[in-house]
Amino acid sequence: MPENKNLTASVAPMMDWTDRHCRWFHRQLSQQVLLYTEMVVADAIIHGPKERLLGFDPAEHPVALQVGGSDPDKLAVAAKTGEQYGYDEININIGCPSDRVQSGRFGACLMEEPDLVATCFAAMQAAVDIPVTVKCRLGVDDQDLDETLPRFIETVAEAGCTHFIIHARKAWLKGLSPKENHTVPPIDYDRVNGVKARFPKLQIVVNGQIETISQGLDLCEQGALDGFMLGRAAYHTPWILTDIDAQVYGRDAFGQSREDIALALIDYAKITQDVDRTTKALIRHAMGLFSGEVGARLWRRQLSEGLSAKLLPSDVLQQALDAMSAMRDAA
Ligand SMILES: Cc1cc2nc3c(=O)[nH]c(=O)nc-3n(C[C@H](O)[C@H](O)[C@H](O)COP(=O)(O)O)c2cc1C
Repeated sequence: MPENKNLTASVAPMMDWTDRHCRWFHRQLSQQVLLYTEMVVADAIIHGPKERLLGFDPAEHPVALQVGGSDPDKLAVAAKTGEQYGYDEININIGCPSDRVQSGRFGACLMEEPDLVATCFAAMQAAVDIPVTVKCRLGVDDQDLDETLPRFIETVAEAGCTHFIIHARKAWLKGLSPKENHTVPPIDYDRVNGVKARFPKLQIVVNGQIETISQGLDLCEQGALDGFMLGRAAYHTPWILTDIDAQVYGRDAFGQSREDIALALIDYAKITQDVDRTTKALIRHAMGLFSGEVGARLWRRQLSEGLSAKLLPSDVLQQALDAMSAMRDAA
């Protein structure tokens, strides 16, 4: 049995990716992993279609709502609304580098405004009884991390924040696209370890370029960290999530096959697609289900073709599964 009882493993907030259908799918692969929503802007939560933005299936628990913004009052209302919707945690995005987010003065550019982040955090935490957490970068642009990173963490921690998820690279706000900002600035896990060493009472979760559960566990061990968060690897190779319950939480090994999960997705699609046109995104989320297996390419091609043909999601999945069975029978 592993000794990592107190570690957490999570799937990162990812715009257009970790919608409710993706989270439902990921939940089939791990009962324990903490799931994050896509970022939802505080203004949208306050003025937008709440059910569409915030509604989720109870099966997704534990699930955290990530919000974006920099107005403490609005963020407090957004956090409260998230709590009322039943989320288990509210997280604030201090890591997104996109121009749109910068022009709204939130996301990664707030790494330069620790006092404002502290005020936002305090307003949000005062509004809710569930934990409020911060997801941030190491810093931005030419910040001197020796100085700015500890100051950021200390300032926000003084406002009461005990839980930080740190994407272990800087964001470059000028000259790089959001995509390049996930690859170009070098990854630096030692900086994250340094934060934990300096603030040992804080919960520090590492994020960035983690490909497997064992890599996540190794990083936690090396830095005495409190958890790891998986982003792109969870999306593109979701089967890695099936290692989490046993390896991170000491629960029983995952007992289902990829075909079992595909069948569960078909049942889910049948229930949701009549009332929710966004269910078609499930097809995209499921592209990686067979990744690394014989037939992975056939699965992806069947899903892509079914998506282009605008078939019902349940039919697309069923046809892809039938094609996989036929391929296996013929082998
Ligand atoms: C498509 C995509 C969308 C993302 N959207 C968000 C977001 O809404 N909020 C956020 O904090 N980070 C977002 N990120 C960053 C991820 O949460 C994560 O920090 C980053 O991908 C690094 O982790 P990884 O190397 O494991 O993918 C996004 C990343 C990707 C690839």
